[in-house]
Amino acid sequence: MDMPYRSLGHSGLKVSALSFGAWVTFDHQMDVAPARDAMAAAFEAGCNFFDNAEAYAGGKAEIIMGKALAQLGWGRDEYVVSTKIFWGGQGPNQRGLSRKHIIEGVDAARKRFELDHLDLVFCHRPDPSTPIEETVRAMNHVIDRGWAFYWGTSEWSAEQLEEAWRVADRLGLIGPTMEQPQYHMFHRDKVEREFAGLVRERGLGTTTWSPLASGLLTGKYNEGVPEGSRFDLPQYSWLRDAVLEDPSFPGKIAKVKQLTGIAQELGASMAQLALAWTAKHPHVSTVITGASRTSQVVENMKAIAFIDQLTPDVMSRIEAILDNKPAVAS
Ligand SMILES: NC(=O)c1ccc[n+]([C@@H]2O[C@H](COP(=O)([O-])OP(=O)(O)OC[C@H]3O[C@@H](n4cnc5c(N)ncnc54)[C@H](OP(=O)(O)O)[C@@H]3O)[C@@H](O)[C@H]2O)c1
Repeated sequence: MDMPYRSLGHSGLKVSALSFGAWVTFDHQMDVAPARDAMAAAFEAGCNFFDNAEAYAGGKAEIIMGKALAQLGWGRDEYVVSTKIFWGGQGPNQRGLSRKHIIEGVDAARKRFELDHLDLVFCHRPDPSTPIEETVRAMNHVIDRGWAFYWGTSEWSAEQLEEAWRVADRLGLIGPTMEQPQYHMFHRDKVEREFAGLVRERGLGTTTWSPLASGLLTGKYNEGVPEGSRFDLPQYSWLRDAVLEDPSFPGKIAKVKQLTGIAQELGASMAQLALAWTAKHPHVSTVITGASRTSQVVENMKAIAFIDQLTPDVMSRIEAILDNKPAVAS
């Protein structure tokens, strides 16, 4: 099966069902050459969307991605690139969603990328200290300047998104096109339940993150923390502790072990099963994958081939193991 391309919500932009992001890996695990090779492998498999943020490695992830793009020499119309604005520095005006930080932050990001324009810009988190109207107006300014084509949010609530659309409608401005929520087999509520009405009625697009729960859903943590894995990185010990010390961790590992049996029956790796499962959900525009090496990218992009194998019977067996389906009002 070839890589499917889906409209990003109600926009005309087409994104590959599997995309590729820079969090943790760029700078900490991959410098320019390995990042370039990983992006090339993703592109080769049909991936056309590459995700980033001003916060990733303090801006270095954008520099690395920009240098990799320059070396790859793709046409600017062949790929879609994003950044996210919220954590640009420690100063009071280097963070959040004020008009000042959004406009200065996007300008600085496109300079780090060495690109005239980005395609998508996200508000990386909600900012309760800035009126949503100020953020909507600032994001429209970014679009009017030609620095990005679409704006969206990450980890906003349905209520906050509704407010952004109400403001945009009232002012005749462009509202958020897409949201970037966490979505994987162990984290389902926002995508499957909270955003259901927004996807249906507002045409919200979604670019979902951490589809493998930072690697948990590959099975690599079933017997401990392997050397060189994400949870072995000293800079991310906070993440390892949050996951491994959570009381739900042993139950999750037991489920991964059961799910691996289903993956094996399909001829898939556990990672491919978990990725295909997220990409299959109709509320998902694109699943942003992460990888610390090119071989993982090659394996992960092949997950596309397993979407069609997730028949109603297989899905109900997965559901029985997960036992965490959000109650969705019909
Ligand atoms: N908006 C937000 O707040 C937000 C938050 C987080 C992420 N994101 C976006 O989502 C992207 C993906 O997130 P993520 O990196 O957390 O995704 P993930 O799929 O949950 O985890 C990716 C990590 O799992 C391991 N892995 C991946 N494929 C593997 C395979 N086939 N076999 C074994 N190990 C494998 C690798 O780590 P090791 O090899 O090091 O173990 C890799 O870096 C990010 O790059 C970013 O663009 C957004």
